[in-house]
Amino acid sequence: GSPCAKRIKLSPDAQDTLRKVDEWLQPFRLSREKLREVSSRLRKDLIRGLGKHTHRRAPVKMLPTFVRATPDGTGDIRQCELWRTWPVLVYESACGVISGGPLSSSCFSGSSPRGASVSLHALLSHSVASEKGDFLALDLGGTNFRVLHVRVVEEQQKVLKMDSKICAIPQEIMLGPGEQLFDHIATCLSEFLESLGLKDLTLPLGFTFSFPCEQKDIDKSILIRWTKGFNCSGVEGEDVVRLLREAIHRRGDYDISSVAMVNDTVGTMMSCGYRDQSCEIGMIIGTGTNACYMEEMKNVKRVEGEAGRMCINTEWGGFGDNGSLKDIQTEFDVEVDRNSLNPGVHTFEKMISGMYLGEVVRLVLIKLAQQNMLFGGKVSEALEKPDAFETRYISEIEEFSKKLQDTVKILAPKCDISFLVSEDGSGKGAAMVTAVAQRLAMQSRL
Ligand code: GLC
Repeated sequence: GSPCAKRIKLSPDAQDTLRKVDEWLQPFRLSREKLREVSSRLRKDLIRGLGKHTHRRAPVKMLPTFVRATPDGTGDIRQCELWRTWPVLVYESACGVISGGPLSSSCFSGSSPRGASVSLHALLSHSVASEKGDFLALDLGGTNFRVLHVRVVEEQQKVLKMDSKICAIPQEIMLGPGEQLFDHIATCLSEFLESLGLKDLTLPLGFTFSFPCEQKDIDKSILIRWTKGFNCSGVEGEDVVRLLREAIHRRGDYDISSVAMVNDTVGTMMSCGYRDQSCEIGMIIGTGTNACYMEEMKNVKRVEGEAGRMCINTEWGGFGDNGSLKDIQTEFDVEVDRNSLNPGVHTFEKMISGMYLGEVVRLVLIKLAQQNMLFGGKVSEALEKPDAFETRYISEIEEFSKKLQDTVKILAPKCDISFLVSEDGSGKGAAMVTAVAQRLAMQSRL
């Protein structure tokens, strides 16, 4: 029944092989029923992660980001007990732009009751855009590390990416002592500033750090655990901003002023919110996978207060870490997890994201060859090498969009969801937060 069989006349042997290949691939095909079931398990875990008493053991961490929507929908910065701590205000104004419905009552299951809605442009002209100036942004989380120099232009109400530089992070650094990693970052930033003649300026910095962190403040973020290809010692449980500052001070050839930390999903949501104010979910399927969304404060039991909304970094990559995806994990997924840096951690991420998908396909190809269904039964030396099959080949073959949209429609029929591609969410999103952070910091000092 394959499309190939219709076009090419296959010998009975070949048809038999195709049928067998199809059987081997069957575990990768999830029925609609199964998809619905998995979706409802995820929903349960998301709710568990939000709960005051259940979150500690929840596989999906649901981390509060302190990015808030204003409760009254006017776009004014809310007066609250946190007024003096500018970081919280920063978040509030930077993210007031996002409007829409909370997960618990809508997006995964029903129509989205519009909540606080703030005019993005009003907000930007009030905050970001009135802060013109230069900012730095760091983006750490994928295979490469990026440094950006961003300018906020008042007249155009725009965040412009001016210059950027990509620095590779060698594997020995990704797996070495934390101090070495932060020294590497500080060196890369130093070279970048040197090349632009900016070393004498002390600029504010937005830090997109794409790992699960317990955020204490905009500039205090404790790494819960490394994910993806990183496993540097001495960083888990530590404040990442402090480690960055210490590395910069060790060099002593330049300095930075305020720091604003964001997860890449949050930067993504913000950079889309800049274009469409109803954007309220940020989703990444890159080296890793994750999503953030705006939740009603009354459902965020770990944070005081009931009013308004807050952006939650779900860290849904950890879905399945309590064994809840066992029935859909294939033997290949199990092997990829076993061979990974952190077995048993971020199960869902390992089943779908860029860092692992190529490896899943490589293992399938080896298996099919060993079963004499492919490559004349021979496994080439090249194929035997771990990570030899890159995920980008799968993207080229599959071209990851209509299927995604159709499946979302099936799983959330009452939700009207459209996907926007984020333009450099990690870079620009972080810069936007920093721009607001800087202005409000100055304002609160007056
Ligand atoms: C991993 C990280 C998460 C990040 C995602 C996408 O899942 O834990 O923080 O958002 O990768 O980069």
